[in-house]
Amino acid sequence: MRTMSSSTSSKGIAAIVGVGPKLGRSVARKFAHEGYTVAILARDLGRLSRFADEIAREEKAQVFAIRIDCSDSRSVREAFEGVLSLGFVEVLVYNAYQPVSWHPSNFADVRVDSFEKSLAVSTVGAFHCAQQVLPGMVERGRGTILFTGCSASLNGIAGFSELCCGKFALRALSQCLAREFQPMGVHVAHVIIDGVVGPPRPFRFIHIRLADSFPRLPKVSLNSYLSESAIAQKLEFNLFEDTGN
Ligand SMILES: NC(=O)c1ccc[n+]([C@@H]2O[C@H](COP(=O)([O-])OP(=O)(O)OC[C@H]3O[C@@H](n4cnc5c(N)ncnc54)[C@H](OP(=O)(O)O)[C@@H]3O)[C@@H](O)[C@H]2O)c1
Repeated sequence: MRTMSSSTSSKGIAAIVGVGPKLGRSVARKFAHEGYTVAILARDLGRLSRFADEIAREEKAQVFAIRIDCSDSRSVREAFEGVLSLGFVEVLVYNAYQPVSWHPSNFADVRVDSFEKSLAVSTVGAFHCAQQVLPGMVERGRGTILFTGCSASLNGIAGFSELCCGKFALRALSQCLAREFQPMGVHVAHVIIDGVVGPPRPFRFIHIRLADSFPRLPKVSLNSYLSESAIAQKLEFNLFEDTGN
């Protein structure tokens, strides 16, 4: 675990699992900005430490970088020993994402280990992480768990069975947890990011890539680019409001 700190925080611990350069980093920054002590987790500790340093400096917050491999239950347990040693986890954001190719795969060519890996990162990792924080949240009668999904959480897409199955199952897990733990004061939400995260790219590029992959996608969706920071704002909104997803 590497610590980057510059001031004491008051709102408690926000653990952001799956922090890369896109959404994860923006979500971590948002919680740091709002006064949480933030634990950021992913596999690449060198990159995480740079993010922690940057966020701590810019937001004057305490940020801890902790290595985790969500596809390995032992790694999740060890990482959360570190997270829980910081204090009560008020917020868990599960954002780990195994990138997939823009190009659809023939189902016959999908290797079972690759399919299992997708489920392990999207869903089994979320299951393990939620199990680490829920006992504390139930004991205190409060806490928030946010899961991030995508368009594939709702619709099966030809050639994307790995992504869709992992994301569908994550959504099911979210609903089960929301219904089980809401009466105990724990807020669980699943947030679907229905677009592409990042700055807009030239239309021709988008058209070629998406038209190849999603031949039946309505044209209106082709320009749907979303900024990481705008999505982070919406996740924060979910701390207080049910999405109904
Ligand atoms: N990118 C998009 O256009 C897009 C669109 C719609 C929805 N979303 C959703 O937004 C969320 C975040 O996606 P993002 O693209 O913005 O990524 P991101 O937040 O920049 O990074 C996610 C990080 O997850 C980490 N990760 C992958 N496998 C892991 C594992 N086994 N254990 C621990 N961490 C792991 C990776 O870091 P390490 O390699 O260091 O582990 C990766 O950088 C996902 O739920 C995704 O479905 C993304």
